[in-house]
Amino acid sequence: MDLFGKAQAAVGAIRERVQIAPRVGIILGSGLGGFASQVENAVSIAYTEIPHFPRSTVVGHSGKLVLGTIGGVPVAVMQGRVHAYEGYAMDQVTFPMRVLGLLGVRTLIVTNAAGGIRADIAQGSLVAIRDHINLTGTNAALGPNEPRFACVAGAGERFFDMTNAYSPRLRKLAHDEATRQKIGLNDGVYLAVLGPSYETPAEIRAFRTLGADLVGMSTVHEVIVARHMGIEVLGISLVTNAAAGVLNETIHHEEVMEIGRRTERQFTKLLTALVPQIAVAS
Ligand code: HPA
Repeated sequence: MDLFGKAQAAVGAIRERVQIAPRVGIILGSGLGGFASQVENAVSIAYTEIPHFPRSTVVGHSGKLVLGTIGGVPVAVMQGRVHAYEGYAMDQVTFPMRVLGLLGVRTLIVTNAAGGIRADIAQGSLVAIRDHINLTGTNAALGPNEPRFACVAGAGERFFDMTNAYSPRLRKLAHDEATRQKIGLNDGVYLAVLGPSYETPAEIRAFRTLGADLVGMSTVHEVIVARHMGIEVLGISLVTNAAAGVLNETIHHEEVMEIGRRTERQFTKLLTALVPQIAVAS
């Protein structure tokens, strides 16, 4: 069975469980999984119950697809994702994103935990991703092109534009809402590495020179595939720690999770308010 066939099989299994056709997809990063409790009329499907879905092996990524509504908007929330550092191939890492597209998602909110490279980006703060630098050494659209994944006219091409991968329109909505809620929201460039080791201080110095504000181990692959399908993207990073060498401290995954939990309320309030605006606007 080819990738498209597998994605169709997954969509079929999900539709057997739930009638909802989600318009907005939300991928929750490390420590941010609690947001899924905001979903009303929720139907929760474990990744293990969906054919061909990869299983998350990381603590803090629970591995459930939650379908329902937020402010009346049909949504699909991924509580947990898989990463390339777990040993998954690119088409497995991005398989859930392909499935979201086939389910009807036209707008993606992708979130992650990230290290802050820029000095004015504090631990615990939220950043709207303006652009990314993919230093993972691979690309999610690798392999035969599959035009049937196109969600809108003109998408699904072999070569596709990444100029406005992170929608300026959605970023403006996010900033306006953050201002209304008096939440500080920076803008920044997210640099992706493969992991799972955190970076060395020399790498972080190099990344700063390259123009990166944040560093993490996810997101870019999902965004590349979303853009291939023609899905509009809003990316939000939660800065869980200063990147290596910025402060003279070591980095622990438990700290990453703890900061996620502490910032969860702000994050949840911002996202809950944004979903209806994003859906109305698209
Ligand atoms: N580096 C890479 N990924 C991360 C970090 C970091 O410092 N913090 C959270 N995810």
